[in-house]
Parts: sequence; structure tokens; C-alpha cells
Amino acid sequence: MKRFLLVVVPLVLVAAATIGACGRRSTSGGQAQLLEIAQSRGLSPEDAARAVKTFVAPGGRDEYMLFASGGHSGQVHVIGLPSMRLLKTIAVFTPEPWQGYGYGADWSEMSLADTGATNSGEGGPNAGTNGGGIIDPTGNGPKEPLRWGDSHHPALSETDGKYDGRWLYINDRAHGRIGMVDLGDFRAKQVLQVPNLMTSHGGVFATPNTQYVHISSKVPALKAWNASQGQTVTLDDHLNRYADIYRGYSTFISVNPQTGRMDLSKSFQIELPPYTQDLADSGKGASDGFAFINSYNVEMSTGGIQQGRPPIEVGASQLDFDYLHIIDWKKAEQVVAAGKFQEINGIRVVSLETAVAEGLLHLAPEPRSPHGVDVAPRGDYITVAGKLDPHATVYSIDLIKKAIADKNFEGKDRYGVPILKFDAVVAGKVELGAGPLHTQYDNQGNAYTSLYLESAIAKWTLGEPYHPADKAFKLVDKVAIHYNVGHLATTQGDTMDPQGKYLVSMNKWSIDRHSNVGPLHPQNFQLIDISGAKMELLADMPIGFGEPHYAQIVKADILKAHNVYEPGVSPATNQRSPNAIASEKEARIERRPGVVEVWMNVVRSHFTPDIVTAKVGDKVIVHLTNAEQTPDATHGFAVPTRNVMVSLDPGETTTVEFTVDKPGTYSYYCTEFCSALHLEMQGWLIVER
Ligand code: CUA
Repeated sequence: MKRFLLVVVPLVLVAAATIGACGRRSTSGGQAQLLEIAQSRGLSPEDAARAVKTFVAPGGRDEYMLFASGGHSGQVHVIGLPSMRLLKTIAVFTPEPWQGYGYGADWSEMSLADTGATNSGEGGPNAGTNGGGIIDPTGNGPKEPLRWGDSHHPALSETDGKYDGRWLYINDRAHGRIGMVDLGDFRAKQVLQVPNLMTSHGGVFATPNTQYVHISSKVPALKAWNASQGQTVTLDDHLNRYADIYRGYSTFISVNPQTGRMDLSKSFQIELPPYTQDLADSGKGASDGFAFINSYNVEMSTGGIQQGRPPIEVGASQLDFDYLHIIDWKKAEQVVAAGKFQEINGIRVVSLETAVAEGLLHLAPEPRSPHGVDVAPRGDYITVAGKLDPHATVYSIDLIKKAIADKNFEGKDRYGVPILKFDAVVAGKVELGAGPLHTQYDNQGNAYTSLYLESAIAKWTLGEPYHPADKAFKLVDKVAIHYNVGHLATTQGDTMDPQGKYLVSMNKWSIDRHSNVGPLHPQNFQLIDISGAKMELLADMPIGFGEPHYAQIVKADILKAHNVYEPGVSPATNQRSPNAIASEKEARIERRPGVVEVWMNVVRSHFTPDIVTAKVGDKVIVHLTNAEQTPDATHGFAVPTRNVMVSLDPGETTTVEFTVDKPGTYSYYCTEFCSALHLEMQGWLIVER
């Protein structure tokens, strides 16, 4: 204990001096108290230092915000760094009652049923018949919005290769869907079913100026697969004609530069061989205009254990190499502009033949079963980590461009796509450990790679100066994590402005790391300080929701969210709603056959009108305006027995529609504890025969 005291005292002095320097509070008596607390809680000096490093004082703010996918919860989670406090959960693919998302609010119903094909970029109702949230492969089934998704890879919008804090895009692993979250109000505004994609995985990124957000297929789909025009195949087709009937697609979805909304009419797709395309990243800097997509199962294994075929895990691992797909999307833009496309299911598609003929697509061998493909901050290097190879393989864009120009091919695949010579495009390899997956970067020329099998993070250097590359790549540090890290995120570490401060290791298993909450254990996010020569594990954060997959960390001051909406603004359009009312004097009820339409004022602590009458069978339309301009003065509007639950933030105007099918009286009420008279904030819907 004596030794502990000796070590902890200087630390406490440093901490106290730091606190004193901030001028936040008096330090008198603080040192002794700090020491006593550390001792009584059994904290080592290192623990105490970590606590100080991650502590954000009450009322203080985190320096960074982490946007983590919520996995099969379908949502996005916003977490402050370094405190690791959960700030918000944003509903994207899964209805969520607190925010009223998917429970009647016009803006959320629109996003769940959006098509992108008909929107003008201004939001508003969509006339499309094949909604974004509606999957119906037969074309005959019930048109019912999907009520779940598997959110996987967030992509923050960028300007000049740096996060600009405007929008966040995220894909649905289960479906070929992509959602857009407006970071003005942290709400999902659009969920788009991308044509011809059945599934998607990590093929999501924004181009350096967010001209496009990219999404590619994961498991190949039947050619021209579409939500409403699915095809059927026989088992024999699947087993014996796989290579002919399935295809992958790389999709460049056009983003409206004012609104962030995705517009299919300006988007295009490039048909790909039916390998399983996986992770992807955008070129930038030296590689601007290129896109890189990993693949596995170039063997095109079909599965069929009971048909005497190898399981996919075996069939897909027969060859020593899979293929890195290198796409020249700026050239593809020109090819599309020249009309060399076919429109399939509402999107312009460049065929595989055209992609080959025009030189848009090249392949490069990569060690088998690769996982991450991650472009370095300057865009010069592309790191690929193959989970079955202990090395990271580093490709050079200069070498790739040269090999393409020189036609330095080792051959072509069965679809005629040229395969660049491995040795001609690889700048070097670095041995990192067991099961390398994903790589992120810092601002000192270092890379950080997750090691799944080894449960560790490897830090390695790209070298400074960068060339000669083969001598430059060196492992410099390693830190153990708990357990089974998948993705990792460093502060702005996938942009041209990496910060080199923190790394979050997103661990798949926690096993014995947290209090037992039943057999379904939380996953574990671990915060690691990467600002020094040695990485240091600072904190654990149990993640009590579906498998979070990837995250991005942005400097908090880049985000400029609204504090309140301007009076009467609709979240659907970010503009004043035509149905907004200026005060409760404008509140009114209008009736026409079969419809009761209400303009309702909402304020602390009453609804006006507080009595609405309707007849059985009527459609009830309620335009709700929250008249508040006080920050945080949110009200709710909930109707028992109807799936209506709306969150009305200060200034917001939102519309709900529902039908009343049984006589009776129903008490609508406010769901937010908005005032001392919150409980009294209620009204009556009286339904007469
Ligand atoms: Cu408004 Cu409670």
C-alpha cells in the first residue's frame, strides 16, 4: 500500500494541477480526497489516470462524437468521446416510439416508404409505388413496410475529404437499403431501397465531396433483382448456373448538395461479377475518382451441404486469392453521360461488358478471404487485410495506375475483367498477427489494424517519407482487447484529416467482462488512447443493443445541429409546413364526408382543441404544431389503441393520419414530462356511431 501511495501522489498532483489550471473549482482538500477515493475503490495509479483522462465534468462536453451502427436493432447510436456516454439513439430502419419514428408522423412514414425515384430533393410525399421500406419479391404480397433492418456501415458526408457534419448515410445489411440521417436534427429523413440489390454490407462510403454515396451488393442477387420484380429459380439453376444468373452491383447514389437527399434519377450502377463484394472505400487525394471493393467467394461456391457440395465457408476458401475491385467512377460518370447504359428497375446500369470495354473495372488479387479495404489519409495507399493471412497488404495507387496504363495483366476472369499483376500493384506487406480485419489511420503516418483472432489492435507505420514503401511498413505496437474485435474507429481516421487521439475497438464478444445480464451478453466498446507512442486502453463501454458494426468519430464542433426548429417547420422538408399554425387562435377542426381534419396547437400544458369528435370509419388527420421555442420543450402526442405516437420538438409541425373503427372515447395525451402540469396535458377523441 505504501508503494501505491508514493506513485499515486504525483499523479494526483498532476490531476489537481490540471483541474486548477482550468479554473473550474478549488483544489483545496481535493488531493487528499482523490487519494482516499482511489484507495477505497481499489484503483491503481494507472486506473486513476485513465479515469481522469476520460472524465467529463458535469456540464462539460465531449470533444468527439462517435456514430455507431446499431446492427440488427436497425438504429444509429451517438456516443460522446472520451466519456463514452450515450447521447442519442436515432431510429433509421426500425420504428421507435420515443422519437415517434414509424408511429404515424408524416416525415417518418415518408422515409420508411421512400423510393428516391420521384423526390425532387425537397422531401415531401413520394408518388412511387415501390417504397423504400417495402420488400415484396413476388410483386403480389402485402405491401407492408419493413419493421426492421440491420444497420451496418455509417458514412458521414464529406467536403474535400473531411467530415462536414451535414448528413450520415447507413446501409441495411439485410436488404439493399440505405438511410439518410439529417444531422441538422439527428433524424432519419430517407430510407431508399436501391434497385437490383438484395443485400448490402460494407460497401458504403461518401465520395470526397459527397457527390455520391456508394453502396454495393454483398451476396450477389439474381440479375436485375428488384423488390417488386424478383425472379424465381430452381435448385438446379442455383447449383449449376450460379455464375450466369447472379450479379453484383456497385451503386453510386447521387446526393442533392442542398438537402442531402438521395436521388435515383441521377444515380448509376456498375454491374459486377457474382463474387461476394464486401467492404469498400473511396479513393481520395492521390486516388480521388477511384473506388475499391473487396470480395470473397470468387470461387462462386453455392452451398448445398445436403446436395453433396461443400459448405460455403469451405467452397469460398479454395483459392489463395480473392479480388480487389478497382473502379474508376469518374470515367464511369462519362460513360453514363454518353448514354452507354441500360435502365433497369429505375436506375441506369452500366453492364459488365461495357465496364470492361470502357476500362472502368479492374481486379487485383488479394490474399484470400479479405475483410477491410481502407484508403490512407493522402489516398496513396490502400490497405487490405485478409483474415486468413497474418499480413496486411498495402497497394499503391501509383502502381495501380501504372499497371492499368501498361496493361500489366496476369489474365482475365471468366467475365473478361482484366486482373492486374499482384507484384505490380503491391507496395509491401507487413506481418501484424492473427486475423487482421480493418485499418484506420492517424495524423503521424501510422495505421491501426484490428486483429480478430488475436483479440488485439496492431499499430504499424506507413513510414515517413513513404517511399521506399517495402522497407517502410513496420509493426510498432500492439494492445490486447476483450474480445474478438471487428471494426475499429479512430478519430476521423478514415478521412483526409485524421486526428490521432482516440481509437474505439468494437468487440464482438465480452464474455466475462461485464456484470451478468443473462446469456445474451453486451458487446464491448473499448476506448484506447493513441496520442502517445504506446497505445493505452482507457475504458470499456458495454453496448446493450444489437450488434454494432462500424463507427465513425467526428470532432464535436463540426456538428451544427439546431437547438429548436424555426416556428412551424416540418422535419420532412426542413421548411415551414403549409399546415403550421401561428397560435392556438388558428387551431380548428374541419369536416368533410369521411374525414375529420384538425389543426392542433400544442403548448405547455394543453392541446387545442382538447376535444375532437369523429364518426366510426372516419379518417382523422391531425396537423400538430408545437408552439414552443424554448430548447428541450418537447411534447408528445399519443393515441391509445392506434399506432400513433409522435414526438413534437419545439417549433415542429407534424401530421398524423389514422382511421377510427370503433365507437368510444379515447384519451390522447402528451408523452413527455414537459411541465408541472404535464399529467393534465390530455384531450379526448370521441368516436360516435
Ligand atoms: Cu407536454 Cu407533457
